[in-house]
Amino acid sequence: MSVDSTVVLETRELVTGYGELEILHGVSVSVCSGEMVAVIGPNGAGKSTLLKGIFGLLPVQSGAVLLGGADVTGKPPDRLVQNGLSYVPQVENVFPSLTIQENLEMGAFIRRNGVRERIDEVFRLFPDLAKRKGENTGKLSGGQRQMLALARGLMLDPKILLLDEPSAGLSPKLVSAIFERINVVNKAGTAVLLVEQNAREALSLCRRGYVLAMGRNRLEGEASNLLNNEEVGRLYLGA
Ligand SMILES: Nc1ncnc2c1ncn2[C@@H]1O[C@H](COP(=O)(O)OP(=O)(O)OP(=O)(O)O)[C@@H](O)[C@H]1O
Ligand SMILES: [Mg+2]
Repeated sequence: MSVDSTVVLETRELVTGYGELEILHGVSVSVCSGEMVAVIGPNGAGKSTLLKGIFGLLPVQSGAVLLGGADVTGKPPDRLVQNGLSYVPQVENVFPSLTIQENLEMGAFIRRNGVRERIDEVFRLFPDLAKRKGENTGKLSGGQRQMLALARGLMLDPKILLLDEPSAGLSPKLVSAIFERINVVNKAGTAVLLVEQNAREALSLCRRGYVLAMGRNRLEGEASNLLNNEEVGRLYLGA
């Protein structure tokens, strides 16, 4: 599926944080249908906070979140999930005491039927997980765990997937492997908002990107332009 100009997800001047503490001071991002968009920025910039704010996990102080053109600001995660949004957190993104198969079943919790068929489809994308489906998740390596988290995020066949640092802590070979899977998922039609520390790889994969710093939009544009941007190169690409 190709990218079209229909905006599937948008934040408008989103202001959110933790309790009284304001972390995002008005962040605006958008993702078109079928598009893959990167969010990069230094530690503490507010990247994870942005995804949590979009997914209804933090109180929105002002601004808006739009999903498929509808205002979903302040809506709880279960409502957003029903409307085609999926979120894979940076940490604690699988249930370690359950098997691989059970994790996928949990990922389909609101699905009334077709769970088995969807598990089969997801296993076709992740054959290594299929081979080990009865094993406890606690035994998986970091790379396999991230694959499972990604697989679980696909169980409801979302229109858009929020991914928070899927490559964190992985060896270069596994970083490539997880990005390759994300690319396959995107090419099959799922839009992706990808938060990443691996800025070069993320921008290479994505069509557009945003740079956040200190809770604000700092730069945005075509990923290829950001890759060539002097400030991005100096600060995030180790140029
Ligand atoms: N639960 C929390 N309670 C209070 N402050 C928090 C909480 N989580 C994050 N923060 C603060 O919010 C700011 C942004 O954090 P956030 O996790 O969004 O950054 P990030 O860009 O995802 O960083 P990283 O690259 O390290 O994952 C930081 O100053 C952080 O200390
Ligand atoms: Mg983070």
